[in-house]
Amino acid sequence: MIRTVIEGLGHYLPPRVVTNEELAQSMNTSDEWIVQRTGIRERRYVEDGVGASDLALPAAQKALEQAGLAPTDLDLIIFATLSPDVCFPGSACFLQARLGCRPIAALDIRTQCSGFLYGLQIADAFLRTGTYRHVLLVGAEVHSTGLDFSDRGRDVTVLFGDGAGAVVLGAREGAGLPSDSGVLCVRVCADGTGAKELWCVAPTSARMPRLTHKMLEDGLHFPQMNGRLVFRWATEKMPEAAQQVLDEMGMTANDVRWFVPHQANLRINELVARKLGIPDERCWNNIERYGNTTAATIPIGLSELAESGKLQRGDLLLLAAFGSGFTWGSALIRY
Ligand code: ACO
Repeated sequence: MIRTVIEGLGHYLPPRVVTNEELAQSMNTSDEWIVQRTGIRERRYVEDGVGASDLALPAAQKALEQAGLAPTDLDLIIFATLSPDVCFPGSACFLQARLGCRPIAALDIRTQCSGFLYGLQIADAFLRTGTYRHVLLVGAEVHSTGLDFSDRGRDVTVLFGDGAGAVVLGAREGAGLPSDSGVLCVRVCADGTGAKELWCVAPTSARMPRLTHKMLEDGLHFPQMNGRLVFRWATEKMPEAAQQVLDEMGMTANDVRWFVPHQANLRINELVARKLGIPDERCWNNIERYGNTTAATIPIGLSELAESGKLQRGDLLLLAAFGSGFTWGSALIRY
């Protein structure tokens, strides 16, 4: 059977580091509160004029270089983001033009923190059926231009950062066994009844005009979150989803070399890892340095792991995410 394999990984973080102390200068928060509640110490912000596709480009170029492929070898770009460059067209089109790989298919997906896993499932389906041979899957976010830096937004603003991660996926013959290289199992879910628990209301197609001065005054263009509810769901759904893919493949947490969870809150990840019985030293967290980069967290984590030499070919990776939608999912990949 055909398996989807990771051919190359890359990531890019904008150079500007924003510490908790810097945020505390514009809103009523503190380094102590942010570190205790979330584990975040700093995040990266773009300079003015830099959009999601600008962050994606260097990440994609690194992933292609590692794969030993040219942009023209790609058949499809999947761009996962909740912060596209513009309302339309999708950021995948901007990235395709910058990479110079016309006229391959360019697809944006908007499944927030689960974007990488949804993209992985889409890519896996195309590769395993032979529709495409090489797919570039990118997660890239610019949050900093859409956050409320007043006291009103402090609960959300301290959590997010900008960044991009990319993976080049290809197809390889496997034996249909858990020992195969590549994507062994990927599952994604949603529960839209939670859509308004973590969302951004404006601009909205339901109102004319889509964005009014009143909406801006009310801060409806900023994300709003029921933090406690999201926390509860995340700590329930992430372990449940992770356990599901392990069970489906007849594996246990002991088989997992690296657990790479979405980075929303260090406390969430510690709880999830504990529920799964995965020790801290096999759980990859970088939220301390980057905050929550939404669709980019998992590919950044994978790329960092590979770059550090801690991820070896043959290692079993367990991925899990939960976020706005609500959406969530998990995957098992042999690197
Ligand atoms: N600094 C200081 N105090 C703050 C801040 C801040 N930045 N933010 C909130 N507070 C205050 C609150 O006002 C509240 O004060 P009160 O008790 O006087 O009312 C107090 O701190 C406690 O607030 P809680 O919301 O109960 O704090 P909690 O311990 O739940 O932590 C947090 C908040 C960190 C947001 C947590 O709920 C969380 O991580 N939730 C999940 C986030 C998440 O997973 N998001 C999903 C991914 S994002 C995506 O998909 C786009």
